[in-house]
Amino acid sequence: MFRSLTIAALALGVAGTTALAQSNVSSQLKARQGLMRVNVINLGILGAMAKGEVDYNAEAAQAAADSLVGVSMIDQAVLWPEGSGEMDIDGTRAKMEIWDDPDGFMAAWEKYNTAVQAMQAAAGEGQAALGPALGQIGGTCQACHEAYQVPRN
Ligand code: HEC
Repeated sequence: MFRSLTIAALALGVAGTTALAQSNVSSQLKARQGLMRVNVINLGILGAMAKGEVDYNAEAAQAAADSLVGVSMIDQAVLWPEGSGEMDIDGTRAKMEIWDDPDGFMAAWEKYNTAVQAMQAAAGEGQAALGPALGQIGGTCQACHEAYQVPRN
């Protein structure tokens, strides 16, 4: 349900003709980039525990994992409006492939969502459970960035 709705919304965006002015999409741009950074913070908490740099704490690990899942539940269709790609506005590294291939983009989110849900299930189970779950999440971040994010140079 969620998936087909967001794909429909993205497809609708692709069908739109006029590119939006930068000011109209700046909230979405800041929001999606900020949410990525929230994820980085929570992954950092889990990563430090996985490496033993910080003592494992089941409650803190669970809170970080729950936050990853919470962010993953935000409807992506509203964060990636047509006219907010790298060819449209400054300050974004969103490739045009997001709008050329909305199904692929949403499929990449689905894989990411599955990985953060696995972390949510594992986070409270002890330090040893964190590493594998983190590896799974990291793979999905990387896969999406390779396809849909302009590399930093
Ligand atoms: C389904 C695709 C997708 C997934 C999954 C994904 N990202 Fe991203 N990410 C992007 C895109 C596209 C951008 C570029 C956004 C922009 O600049 O408008 C981005 C941008 C970023 C940025 C830069 C934010 C900024 O301030 O410019 C960071 C950091 C980041 N992602 C981290 C992550 C991490 C960590 C994960 C996994 C936990 C992740 N991303 C998962 C697609 C994804």
